[in-house]
Amino acid sequence: MKTVAICGSKVETIMSADSFVDHLEIEGIKVNCGIIHTKDITFASNDPVFSNYVLFQVKAFSCNYRDKRLILNTATSAPANRFNAVGSEFVGVVLAVGTDVTDLKTGDRVIANNCYPDSGVTGLRPGVPTNHASKELRILHQAKLIKIPDVMPDDVAASFSIGGQTSYSMIRKLQIQPEQNILVTAAKSNTSLFVLHALQKYRQQMGIRVYALTSSGKFIDKIQAIGVDRVVQIQPNSETWIDPETAASVLEETKGGFHGIIDPFFDLHIARMLPVMKPEAKYITCGLYDQFTDLTGTQSPDIGISPQHLLYTTMIYNLSIIGNCIGLTSDLEQAIADYAQGNLPVAIDSVYTGKDIAPFFDRMYNSRDRFGKVVYSYEN
Ligand SMILES: NC(=O)c1ccc[n+]([C@@H]2O[C@H](COP(=O)([O-])OP(=O)(O)OC[C@H]3O[C@@H](n4cnc5c(N)ncnc54)[C@H](OP(=O)(O)O)[C@@H]3O)[C@@H](O)[C@H]2O)c1
Repeated sequence: MKTVAICGSKVETIMSADSFVDHLEIEGIKVNCGIIHTKDITFASNDPVFSNYVLFQVKAFSCNYRDKRLILNTATSAPANRFNAVGSEFVGVVLAVGTDVTDLKTGDRVIANNCYPDSGVTGLRPGVPTNHASKELRILHQAKLIKIPDVMPDDVAASFSIGGQTSYSMIRKLQIQPEQNILVTAAKSNTSLFVLHALQKYRQQMGIRVYALTSSGKFIDKIQAIGVDRVVQIQPNSETWIDPETAASVLEETKGGFHGIIDPFFDLHIARMLPVMKPEAKYITCGLYDQFTDLTGTQSPDIGISPQHLLYTTMIYNLSIIGNCIGLTSDLEQAIADYAQGNLPVAIDSVYTGKDIAPFFDRMYNSRDRFGKVVYSYEN
């Protein structure tokens, strides 16, 4: 079996002749990466140990922002003669199932069910089932997998679980009401692209107005084309952040601000969000920018607000500050159903195959003009 891997500097000493290693730089750190061939794993369907487990072959996988830390960690501290699989999303085909597996059978196509905070099975860990999605053969508990329909191609399926489940969970928690103004930050992030596509249903059926912030001026038209009423460019490194005239006109247009805000990077944005929240507004976040600065030696962002000020403002204006980690099985099921009905387009930037391992990681983590998910496919 093959594994797209982040490798130690001397992995050549343990790898077979058909394996190979290349390299690139991410955040100024040298990252060795390649494909390592190893023996196939074994799975005995009749073994009671595997009764609830599924053997499947990964066809394609992708990485997320969260994987960058794991990649940099392996690159900086893993033993020189070791390698580590990567990736938190995958699509696979079921090869065999244990005797108590009820909803899946050989030939089904599956993706991860990251159901959180309860996996639904006592003793089974909730959340992302693997940070090693690039291992070509995998065995996972049936509760960590969900079947996908034929209409979903491999590149979309390999990009779907985390974005679909997280965006539907955040939107559910906002309890959107008709005619509300909803703001989405970091619009070009994969998470926000999912959110913006998922919000279209509410825009059409409930008349909400969707606003988006982006630091990517080049992509304003593309973001607007998703169905965003107004895209506003931010200058993250300037004091004013948003041109004052634009800020004033957004506040006038929204009659004082937003009923709901979805923000994938609270440490970059929250201080700027409080003044544009209407009384009783809901702000929800699923993450932070500062996930690897300890490894790169770069500076953590200044969050720009004290806990006192944050909680005081939250209290005075009856705001809700909500945290969100992934989502429920029902969120993922709804996202899959919406995709199947043509109501949830998924932004795919590019698909890499064969020996293009370094270009795959380079596109994912080094390209400012990436728009959507970057996928690696074992199929040529
Ligand atoms: N807890 C969970 O369940 C969960 C699930 C999914 C994601 N997340 C989190 O959500 C966040 C986004 O993940 P992702 O994979 O969607 O990220 P991503 O696609 O890598 O995000 C890239 C985008 O982030 C924005 N950005 C990056 N650096 C910036 C900077 N210095 N200043 C301003 N904006 C910057 C830019 O958006 P613009 O170009 O539009 O400005 C950029 O295009 C991460 O924190 C991730 O861990 C959490």
